[in-house]
Amino acid sequence: MAVSVKALTAVLLCVLVLVGGCSAQLSPGFYSKSCPKLFQTVNSVVRSAIQKEARMGASLLRLFFHDCFVNGCDGSILLDDTSSFTGEKRAAPNFQSARGFEVIDQIKSAVEKVCPGVVSCADILAIASRDSTVTLGGPSWNVKLGRRDARTASQAAANNSIPAPTSNLNRLISSFSAVGLSTNDMVVLSGSHTIGQARCTNFRARIYNESNIDSSFAQSRKGNCPRASGSGDNNLAPLDLQTPIKFDNNYYVNLVNKKGLLHSDQQLFNGVSTDSTVRGYSTNPSKFKSDFAAAMIKMGDIKPLTGNNGEIRKNCRRRN
Ligand code: HEM
Ligand SMILES: *[C@@H]1O[C@H](CO)[C@@H](O)[C@H](O)[C@H]1NC(C)=O
Ligand SMILES: *[C@@H]1O[C@H](CO)[C@@H](O)[C@H](O)[C@H]1NC(C)=O
Repeated sequence: MAVSVKALTAVLLCVLVLVGGCSAQLSPGFYSKSCPKLFQTVNSVVRSAIQKEARMGASLLRLFFHDCFVNGCDGSILLDDTSSFTGEKRAAPNFQSARGFEVIDQIKSAVEKVCPGVVSCADILAIASRDSTVTLGGPSWNVKLGRRDARTASQAAANNSIPAPTSNLNRLISSFSAVGLSTNDMVVLSGSHTIGQARCTNFRARIYNESNIDSSFAQSRKGNCPRASGSGDNNLAPLDLQTPIKFDNNYYVNLVNKKGLLHSDQQLFNGVSTDSTVRGYSTNPSKFKSDFAAAMIKMGDIKPLTGNNGEIRKNCRRRN
C-alpha cells in the first residue's frame, strides 16, 4: 500500500513537472527571504547603464533570449572561453554582436555585496531583461526566479538553436517550437526588435536584393551599408527606424509598411499566416505589451536548472 502511494505520488509529480514545463520550482518570491534587496539592487544598475547608453537595454534583453534558447535559461552565455573550453560568446549569433556582459558583471558584484553566494547569474539575466524593458517604456511582469547556473556551455548548440536573420517563416516557427514556444510567442517576442541595432552584415542582402521592402527605406539604409561584403559589415542601423530606444509597437507598424530591417522580420508579414497577428499588434499597443509580458515569462521557463543541479556562480564569467 505504502509503495503504491509512493509510486502514485511520483507519477503525479512527473505529470505536474511536465505540465509546468519542468519549471515547477521557479517562483517570483524565490529570494524574498534570502535576498530581500535583490530587485532594487539589479534595478539601479540597469537604470544607470541605460542612462549612460540607451541601447544597453536592448542588449541586455537580447542576452536573456540567447541564454534561454541554448540549453535553457542557465547563464551559459555568460561563460568566458578558457584554454580548455570554447563557450557561446564566439558562436555565430553572438560573436561581435552579443553585448552587455560588463553590465551583468556590475549587477553581479552589486548583488554579491548585499547577499553573497545566493543569486544565480541566470536569474540576474531574467531580472535585467525585465528592468530593461520597463526602463525603455515597455510592460512589466513578475519575473519567476530560482534558476541555477550551468557549469558548461555549448558553442554548437548556440550555433544551431538561435535563429539566424536569414531564416524563413517556417524555420523561425520551428526554432521556437523546439524550445516549447508557439508561433504567436515567436511573433510577439520578435517585437523586441522595437529596440536596438543590427549590423550591416545582417541586413545587406535584404536591402540590396529583396523585393518585399519599401524602396525609399531600402535606399536610405544603403547609405550606411555598402553593397560589397566585407566593407562596413559592423555599421549599425536601428531595428525600429523611428523609435529604437522606446519599447513601443512601431516594429509591427514597420512590418505592415514593408520596413522590416531583417529578412526574418519581414517574414512575419509577407502574405502569410502571421500577417493578421502582426496587423493586430500594429494597431493595438496594449495587447502587444500584455502578450509580450506573458511570452517573456514563458521564455524564462525554458529548461531551468533547479534544485541541486548546476551551481550559483560567484563570477558570471566562470564556473566556481
Ligand atoms: C525571431 C527570431 C529572431 C532573429 C532571427 C533575431 C535576429 C537578430 C539579429 C540578427 C540582430 C542584430 C544583431 C547584430 O547585427 O549584431 C538582433 C538584435 C536584437 N534582438 Fe533579435 N532576433 C530574433 C528574436 C529576438 C527575440 C525573441 C528577442 C528578445 C526576446 C530579440 C531581441 C533582440 C534585441 C533587443 C536586439 C538588439 C540588440 C542590441 O542592440 O544590442 N530578438 N536580433
Ligand atoms: C560555430 O560557428 C562559428 C562561426 O560560424 C564557427 O567558427 C564554429 O566552428 C562553430 N562551432 C561549432 C562547435 O560548430
Ligand atoms: C544578391 O543576389 C545575387 C544573385 O543571387 C548575389 O550574387 C549577390 O551576392 C547578392 N547581393 C547581396 C548584397 O546579397
